[in-house]
This record gives sequence, C-alpha cells and structure tokens, in this order.
Amino acid sequence: MFKPVVVSEDIFYVGVNDRTKHLFEALWPIPLGVSYNSYLIIDEKVALIDTVDVCYSDTFLKKVETLLNGRSIDYLVINHMEPDHSGSIRLLKQFYPSIQIIGNKKTADMLAGFYQIDENIQEVKDKEEISLGKHTLRFYMTPMVHWPETMMTYDLYTETLFSGDGFGTYGSLNGGVIDKAINVDLYWDEMIRYYATIVGKYGSPVQKALEKLAPVPVRTICSTHGPVWQEKISEVISVYDKLSRYEGEEGVVIAYGSMYGNTEQMAEIIATELSEQGVHNIIMYNVSKTHVSYILRDIFKYKGLIIGSPTYSNELFPLVQSLIDKIDTRDIKNRLFGHFGSFIWAGAAVKRLTAFVENRGWEVVGDPVEQKCSLTAQKYEECVQLAKAMARKLKEK
Ligand code: FEO
Repeated sequence: MFKPVVVSEDIFYVGVNDRTKHLFEALWPIPLGVSYNSYLIIDEKVALIDTVDVCYSDTFLKKVETLLNGRSIDYLVINHMEPDHSGSIRLLKQFYPSIQIIGNKKTADMLAGFYQIDENIQEVKDKEEISLGKHTLRFYMTPMVHWPETMMTYDLYTETLFSGDGFGTYGSLNGGVIDKAINVDLYWDEMIRYYATIVGKYGSPVQKALEKLAPVPVRTICSTHGPVWQEKISEVISVYDKLSRYEGEEGVVIAYGSMYGNTEQMAEIIATELSEQGVHNIIMYNVSKTHVSYILRDIFKYKGLIIGSPTYSNELFPLVQSLIDKIDTRDIKNRLFGHFGSFIWAGAAVKRLTAFVENRGWEVVGDPVEQKCSLTAQKYEECVQLAKAMARKLKEK
C-alpha cells in the first residue's frame, strides 16, 4: 500500500505531511505545510526514531506495519518529546506492547507526565551506544535545542544523524523526501522562519550542539521536519550556525505600525534614503498586515533593524509592542538599531523604543526621530539623517 522510501541502507522514511493546520504550535502560519518525520531502521533489531503528531497516527502506523512485514519493533528512540513527535507513542505501544523506549532522564519524566508511560524505558547518557546488528546507534545529548530533553541519534554504519528538530524547516514534502531528488529552494526561507519562531531563543545551546557534532562524519541528516539532507548538508549546517551566532547579512528591516499613515510616511523616507545610499536589502513591514513570524525571520536574517511606532494610550502601538516582546523572548543579539515614532499630545513611543534598545544592549544608530501629528521639513531631514547613519554603519561592518 505504501512504497518504501529508502533514506540510506536499511533506513526508511515513515513520516507524514500536514497541509491542514493553519498554525504550527497554534501560533505560526504554515502556508506551505509541515512534515513530521519518523524513520525506521530494519536490522537484526528494529528501531523506530521518533513518531508523529497524533492526528496522523493512522497513516504513520500503516507505513510502519507495511515495512515491518510481520516483524515487531525492538526500540523506539525518542529524540524529542514535543507532541508533534511524541503524539503517536501511546497508540504505537498498543500495537507493539513489548517495545523498549530509549531516551534520557528528562525524556522519561516527560513520558510519565504526558502519557503516563513508565515501563520499558532505557535511559541513555551522552555518547552511549546500542547495537542493532550492522547498525550501531550513538546518542548525543543536545539539551535546549529547543527543549531540555532534546538529543540526537547517530548511526555509525551509515553515518546518518537523526537530529530531532535540529536542521528542521517548515514546508511539507511534496513527493520526494531526499534533497537531491527535489527542488529545495522553497525551504531556505522557511528554515529561517522555523528557526526564528521555534529555536530562536536557544542560540548558545545550538552552538554547543554544533561544536559537539563537528568531529562526527555525517553523510545524511534526518531531521524531524523537512527534507532529508544529503547533498546540501554544509549549506544547512551553515544556516543554523549563522542564525545561532546571530550573524546578520547586510540589509535593513523597517518594521512600523501606523494608524493613519503619518508614521508610515517616515518609514518611506528612511527606506528611500537607505536605497539612495546603496543599501540593496531593504525589507519593509507594516506590523498590522504581516504575521510577526515573517518579520522575525528577516530580523534574524539582516543586521540592521529600524522600528517605528505611533504612541497609543501612552504606550507603543500594540503590535509593535508584540514584536519587541518576541525579539526580547528570543534574546536576539548584535543588531544595529534605529527608531522613530509619532504622537499627538504626549510622546511615549520613542521613549519606549529607547528603553527597549538600552535593555537589549544593541548599538543605536543615528538619532531617534519623534514627530508630532504629521511630517514637517525638519522631521523629514531627521529621517534622512537616520537612514544615512544606518547606511554608513552597515558599510563599516
Ligand atoms: Fe517539532 Fe519541538 O517539535
């Protein structure tokens, strides 16, 4: 009923695609869908690596059953307990009651907490190994990428890394599974958006994981979301490396709120002057229109950020406040920051953006511009100067 998808010798893809949900984690839009990847290793012993979201249990179990052809599963390796991967464990155990679960101490705590499972669990430590026959699995603890129990599993025989959410991306798998068989162009931006929304806070743990795995030869990366990587491994690692070091490319994101167009006019002047000064990558977002996940994606991508906001009830415009809260949550580092705003009778927006950037410790570029009601010649010139200062700073870097 299912054609087996071979990832590597004895290793099969048994994941599923979700093109139904609108919001991943009930927060982040997934217009291109998402895949929940699981892998089956059939050797003298059989090991399943992770499961899938409970909504797709039926398809998943049928795939597994077809490949097993009457055999049972010896081990279920759990790299990550978030329910998009652990959601089918209870059902799986009903079909394969003798299955031995492999995880770490924190995995065991979560298994008991989520699913009341506390038997047949083998706790493993960093670099511990189990043999399946030809294949030997070694476990690398990679805590906080992006939950405390996260670990990765490495098959020594095929040099395959089962990386959990690490190196994952939004975007379902539309036919092909392995990068060399498909056009992967659509995944690069979605990988950054996935990182920015899900993993973004944990740059330092991602760096630690990359350092730990650097000496390990890897021919295949099997993440829990998105394509299996073989041809583009160095590109994928480079994306995660740059993002987790908060390195930004030359470019500026201008994110603004505007109720009646006066703050927006300032954004337009700044953007026009940035372009005049030779900045090629200028990305403008009206925060009321674009979902914040796309704005965060580009803030992770580019070095410069300019935020503008009207004053609203003596505070920032609510959606600008929401954006800076999410930047704070992710502890995004090393950005060049400019800001501007407007008010009618008492200014608060610029003051609050100044407090935000002081707290972030980013470099403030140019003087903030604060406009009363609508644009004047003087405020026009101040916007131009802010843009010039940002362009100069970007060229220095
Ligand atoms: Fe894909 Fe953190 O779960």
